[in-house]
Amino acid sequence: MVRVGLAGLGFMGGTHAQCHAAIPNAELAAVCDPEEDRRTKFADMYGATAYASLEEMLASDIDMVDICMPTYLHREAVEAAAAAKKHVLCEKPMALTPADCDAMIAAAQKAGVEFMTGQSSG
Ligand SMILES: NC(=O)c1ccc[n+]([C@@H]2O[C@H](COP(=O)([O-])OP(=O)(O)OC[C@H]3O[C@@H](n4cnc5c(N)ncnc54)[C@H](O)[C@@H]3O)[C@@H](O)[C@H]2O)c1
Repeated sequence: MVRVGLAGLGFMGGTHAQCHAAIPNAELAAVCDPEEDRRTKFADMYGATAYASLEEMLASDIDMVDICMPTYLHREAVEAAAAAKKHVLCEKPMALTPADCDAMIAAAQKAGVEFMTGQSSG
């Protein structure tokens, strides 16, 4: 069972939550968002533990982080997740600059964690 932590509970966070819940060997174990009403709603819907910040969620017993936060936060979120030894799925666009993308890849490689972007078409 892969324990997933979902960061960012807006439009894409909602769609990703449904997907994780539908995957037999995945468990949406934790969610985080600074908006209290959102994290409470998701925690109730999916039986997940709610956190106000990514940092708090990264300290919990999760295997991977799904980042659905605003794009300008992707680099620091991926770097923090990798430093916490969590595997990472990050929504597209990966980041705002090629330099940020390079730094994210380097952080994942240094930490030895899997990292991919949700580069779906459409
Ligand atoms: N909306 C789309 O159709 C769509 C499609 C493809 C990709 N994306 C990408 O998905 C990402 C999220 O987009 P969205 O449309 O879901 O945005 P959104 O504004 O609906 O949701 C973003 C959520 O992130 C939360 N957030 C902000 N700062 C945070 C933090 N520090 N820690 C945790 N959560 C935080 C916000 O409170 C909000 O709930 C973006 O990178 C966007 O480009 C969106």
